[in-house]
Amino acid sequence: MTAQKIQIFDTTLRDGEQVPGCKLNQDEKLVIARQLELLGVDVIEAGFPVSSPGDFAAVAAIAAQTREATVCGLSRAVENDIRVAAESLRHARYPRIHTGIGTSESHIRFKLNSTPEQVIERAVAAVKLAKSFVEDVEFYAEDAGRTDNEYLARVCEAAIRAGATVLNIPDTTGYCLPEEYGAKIKYLYENVRGVHNVTLSTHCHNDLGLATANSIAGALNGARQIECTINGVGERAGNTALEEVVMILRQHPYLHLDTSITTQLLAETSAMVSQLMCMPVQPNKAIVGANAFSHSSGIHQDGVIKHRETYEIIDPREVGVADSSIVLTARSGRAALAYRLQKIGYDFDKNALNKAYASFLQLADRQKEVVDTDLHMLVEQENLVA
Ligand code: KIV
Ligand code: ZN
Repeated sequence: MTAQKIQIFDTTLRDGEQVPGCKLNQDEKLVIARQLELLGVDVIEAGFPVSSPGDFAAVAAIAAQTREATVCGLSRAVENDIRVAAESLRHARYPRIHTGIGTSESHIRFKLNSTPEQVIERAVAAVKLAKSFVEDVEFYAEDAGRTDNEYLARVCEAAIRAGATVLNIPDTTGYCLPEEYGAKIKYLYENVRGVHNVTLSTHCHNDLGLATANSIAGALNGARQIECTINGVGERAGNTALEEVVMILRQHPYLHLDTSITTQLLAETSAMVSQLMCMPVQPNKAIVGANAFSHSSGIHQDGVIKHRETYEIIDPREVGVADSSIVLTARSGRAALAYRLQKIGYDFDKNALNKAYASFLQLADRQKEVVDTDLHMLVEQENLVA
């Protein structure tokens, strides 16, 4: 059975760029867009063109530069937004307008001061207008995560009739549980007329730490596009992390869902985005964190030295990390010390290793981590002979 393709829609340059403290200039956005294309993403959401002249120019430049991926511009269900988005995408080889409106009770009442029927009318008008400019129109039902499923199905059906090619079901506030979000996608997949001719998309935020789990639940229930960002950057607690969903699908081939991402470029892309956005990656971040492939406790180190697979489910080279690392701390055992000593040229017999280990523990208790230069000094000070 061949795997079905999950489209990767990267919104690092739109939802990701909205984070406080991050300001990318146009050249930096172009560099990231080029890297995303190399990485193999299917859609690059390049920005929100009506939001500022700078964002308009960046979207236009990315549209002109990109040859393989679809380039997408965001708009609200507002005529001028859509016209400006269309203009910014004029030179895109594969342009997509992403337009939509809030559909949850609180969005309709408090944000839009509107009614459910008026929201459907605005959704239809927005999709129709976008369709007059481009073939590929994605509709988002903002706060779909907290929207009643029956009403959401009506909105989706109306958007499809108006010409939408992709239906984005955002969990805007990161509220849903995976079971709930998966059931929502399943409900739409089974109840919306015409849904099999369009692509259902997930767009999950991470307020409860569930963005990745929710996106996967969506894919397992019929979504064929996942919206995500590099390193999970995005509003508040962030968006679904691209590297996580991609590697989850790669690690579980029996799900028969896969992406076109060149995973060997994940580490380098993560580092580039982190550096340009001035957004450090937490060390324990899955897949791309500095500690994702490092082992520091004695039991784990002993296992990994005997066979990598004892404590590693991913070969680090698959995500572009040269090797796993054995970090020496006071929790490390003799096996790890012998392994590191050997790497730097010392092959001790049992007695010498025991002596070295006793001195090593004293040093490791004083300082958090023992590095190779410490080991050279230790061998010299203790007069240990290999
Ligand atoms: O989170 C969200 O609902 C969004 C939409 C604008 C797609 O980012
Ligand atoms: Zn979002």
